[in-house]
Amino acid sequence: MSFSIGPWRIEARTVLAPMAGVTDRPFRILCRRFGAGLAASEMITADQRLWHTTKTRQRMNHEGEPEPRVVQLAGNDPALLADAARANVDLGAQIIDINMGCPAKKVYGRLCGSALLGDEPLVGRILENVARAVDVPVTVKIRTGIDRAHVNGLQISRIAAQSGIRAIAVHGRTRADFYEGEAEYETIRAICAEAGIPVIANGDVDSAAKARSVLDFTRADAVMIGRAAHGSPWIFRDVNSFLETGKNTASPLRTEIRDIILEHITALYAFHGEAAGVRIARKHLGWYCQQHTDTQGFRPRLMAAESSSVQFATAAACFGEWADNENKIPGQERANAGNESEGRQDIRHAQAQHHRHA
Ligand SMILES: Cc1cc2nc3c(=O)[nH]c(=O)nc-3n(C[C@H](O)[C@H](O)[C@H](O)COP(=O)(O)O)c2cc1C
Repeated sequence: MSFSIGPWRIEARTVLAPMAGVTDRPFRILCRRFGAGLAASEMITADQRLWHTTKTRQRMNHEGEPEPRVVQLAGNDPALLADAARANVDLGAQIIDINMGCPAKKVYGRLCGSALLGDEPLVGRILENVARAVDVPVTVKIRTGIDRAHVNGLQISRIAAQSGIRAIAVHGRTRADFYEGEAEYETIRAICAEAGIPVIANGDVDSAAKARSVLDFTRADAVMIGRAAHGSPWIFRDVNSFLETGKNTASPLRTEIRDIILEHITALYAFHGEAAGVRIARKHLGWYCQQHTDTQGFRPRLMAAESSSVQFATAAACFGEWADNENKIPGQERANAGNESEGRQDIRHAQAQHHRHA
């Protein structure tokens, strides 16, 4: 159950999708711990004049991340992208990924991200330049095309393979689709049949069964999971286990979920600092509540907390009581319930870390 990107053997067929504002270092580390084979950084602009900002400096921080460390770059100038790739390799990047999939106006408006798919010669120049500039593998993330009338993902994948790109991730929507409708996998299947490089299928993979069917249909090497990991970083463990054994794993125990949440927000405070940490933790706490309908009632209290100490204490009280009330999701039993004592150690560790931070 592995695939390779250049010299790197990736020990899982699931990877975390890069998501600006979500896949910061704490979330990447969490998802890797649950078995994501790769976790790319949030995109970093190729324009080095903007690298002094706190946001970009944070995005370039990979301390403590498991290998291989993937950095995603966004830009449209082949020389600038090549320079940015070299600089990131010097800072510890072990795989460089080029963003040709983002439809966001901020990116698309500057003719970056998925807009590049409309200029195939430029795609070739960018990919060749970056692949030549660094001695680590370069990958690319694309959509299936610009719009339904211009589905050129297959042509882009040929260009990528000819340019020395070592893997391609394909989101089964066009740029014009944005996030509407359902992802289609026919184009990804066609790319897999021809690409000659590893292909990672992306779009709407939200369960182990969906991952299995997308892999079977497309023949991709791996699936990339984005939104389904929000509030559910353990999805990688579930999907990996299903792909390996064909059996569903039970949902995590509530005590484990509580421990993960507290550890996650503690890491967010430590990484982003007080104000940004609380703001970003709010988003993740909202997603954790969304995953479990019986925790929705915690939302107002969690969202109202304005300091890390109040937010942490509120989360510990809400999810603690929830976990104590019932230590498993109704109707589901987890085979390795013995992990609970390990979980309790984790929570003590998280609390101790938080108090040190506060
Ligand atoms: C909040 C958010 C931020 C995203 N940021 C990026 C990004 O920085 N780079 C990128 O290539 N794709 C980005 N994407 C797209 C995802 O990587 C992925 O292709 C998309 O969400 C589809 O996968 P999913 O259905 O599993 O979520 C972003 C998506 C979301 C929801």
